[in-house]
Amino acid sequence: TWTMDGIIDDAVAAIRSQVGSDRVILGLSGGVDSSVVAALCARAIGKQLTCVFVNHGLLRKDEPEQVEAVFSKQFDVDFVHVHAEQRYLELLAGVTDPEEKRRIIGEQFWKEFFAVAEQLDGVKFLAQGTIYPDIIESGVRKTGGKASTIKSHHNLIPFPDGVSFDLIEPLDHFFKDEVRALGTALGLPDPIVHRQPFPGPGLAIRIIGDVTAEKLGILKDADAIVREELDVYNERLFEETGERNGPHAVWQYFAVLPDIRSVGVMGDERTYARPVILRAVESSDAMTADWARLPYDVLARISSRIVAEVPGVNRVVYDITSKPPATIEWE
Ligand code: XMP
Repeated sequence: TWTMDGIIDDAVAAIRSQVGSDRVILGLSGGVDSSVVAALCARAIGKQLTCVFVNHGLLRKDEPEQVEAVFSKQFDVDFVHVHAEQRYLELLAGVTDPEEKRRIIGEQFWKEFFAVAEQLDGVKFLAQGTIYPDIIESGVRKTGGKASTIKSHHNLIPFPDGVSFDLIEPLDHFFKDEVRALGTALGLPDPIVHRQPFPGPGLAIRIIGDVTAEKLGILKDADAIVREELDVYNERLFEETGERNGPHAVWQYFAVLPDIRSVGVMGDERTYARPVILRAVESSDAMTADWARLPYDVLARISSRIVAEVPGVNRVVYDITSKPPATIEWE
């Protein structure tokens, strides 16, 4: 019979027979796919696996700590946390063009990754979280429109000269839902298993204009409030409808920080501070998306919390544009 345990046993056996006694390296992004591959490989080969987590400082609030907790404590693998936050800030200083940001972030990821790989002896394999839709849609941007040039991706690996690995891709015949189910069965925590889609270049493409430490701090705090409140709202929808991912569940939600300021008043003081944009969409596959018709009380709570709790923000606006013609992300 086709049980989850059976599927895991088969995947584990396949990894063991492919790897033998060799070493495997894997780039952990904090996303579902790479985490599930890591968890599978952990079960199959334990310490023969080195997970490299390149922390670019562009993940959401608390995510790096969570990745570290899971893969340094819960799973028995070799875990390397690369603190590259400062290097990324320096590389991104003054860069405003979205494609330029993506290029810099993607290139630096592989530099950081290979710098670790070089230090390890005898790594023969590279494990990757390629899933089935990545393969059938290869050549076309995963979730975007017709052409691959709408926004660039960086999942093609630019191996340095003389470097090569054999690939391990244990998820290459699974769909996303199945990958999540595997993750749960392997003991990954819900915030990782049910993580929303999140762009590889992270918060850098949710900060319009140049990326600075100050802006990142503001965006992380505002985004954490958006996620908290919309998690509560999704839970409320679930209780009302009995459906976990019903037609009106909010599918992806986050904050965006534009590069403008506006006038406000707090107490008796005039402020000249930043607005935060709330983005919340309903979608099934990210190809099209409709802005979520959130109840006014939810919007009001998010707005008053952000302005009260995040210094430097004096206004909250809601993006009421669907995709197309807008995209889900702002860059
Ligand atoms: P857009 O903004 O094109 O986004 O409507 C569609 C979906 O893709 C996610 N996204 C990305 N995912 N790398 C990724 O892995 C990226 O560079 C990237 N850019 C956008 C976005 O969050 C949305 O779910």
